[in-house]
Amino acid sequence: MVLHLDKIVPIGRTLDEYVRMFSLTEYDCKKLILSVADGPASFNAEGTQLGYEIKSVDPIYVFNTQQIKTRFYDVIDNIIEQVEKTANNWVWTYHKSPQQLKSNREKAMILFCQDYEQAKKENRYEIGELPKLKYKDNEYKLGLISHFLFLYSAHLDQQFHLDSISEMLRVCQEVRIFPLITLNHEISPHLNFVIQSLEYKGYNCKLEEVSYQLQPQGNKMLKITKLNQ
Ligand SMILES: C[S@@+](CC[C@H](N)C(=O)[O-])C[C@H]1O[C@@H](n2cnc3c(N)ncnc32)[C@H](O)[C@@H]1O
Repeated sequence: MVLHLDKIVPIGRTLDEYVRMFSLTEYDCKKLILSVADGPASFNAEGTQLGYEIKSVDPIYVFNTQQIKTRFYDVIDNIIEQVEKTANNWVWTYHKSPQQLKSNREKAMILFCQDYEQAKKENRYEIGELPKLKYKDNEYKLGLISHFLFLYSAHLDQQFHLDSISEMLRVCQEVRIFPLITLNHEISPHLNFVIQSLEYKGYNCKLEEVSYQLQPQGNKMLKITKLNQ
């Protein structure tokens, strides 16, 4: 695939946001984790410092630090301006204001950039894209995916969602997905189809409320496990 960085919004979240989005316990963090569509989040950088074993996968890892950083600064002010104009449509319990949202995103970007080149040498950031992953069956204990599936429901159809999640479940013993709503702040039209299809295949799907929220209704995570676990 030829990836054009000017079509991508490389915005990432911090470890604290990941812990809250996925209700990660200390026990969860000690598992071998595959974090898909991880982009320029600082989850891997910060988690590695704490001794966690995280592999991040994203198509943007084809680019170098400077390219990702430049693209971030090209888009961030415009995004924050749009959020400021619609401030009443967001929930300010975690990030207290649009400016604090910007500084948290900047913090994640800086931590990611400091880690990125060295981490690539250690294979902690690998180029890859759903709906296929190059990893072996059950290679990872926990698969995470934040702000990609369900969020882009208008661009990615229900079959793509089912194929992608099934692929993550092939590779990971458990998968957690956040958020479950679209860019328009609506519950994803693909959610019920995905849950019904996975339950039919024998997976256990659980919707769990989490302690992170920025979008209205956006405080639920989908946790999927194999029934014998
Ligand atoms: C909004 S960012 C989320 C980054 C990070 N997960 C977070 O929440 O901070 C969405 C990411 O999905 C990645 N992406 C786009 N297409 C993908 C695909 N087919 N498979 C995996 N990741 C993809 C983008 O490159 C981008 O980094």
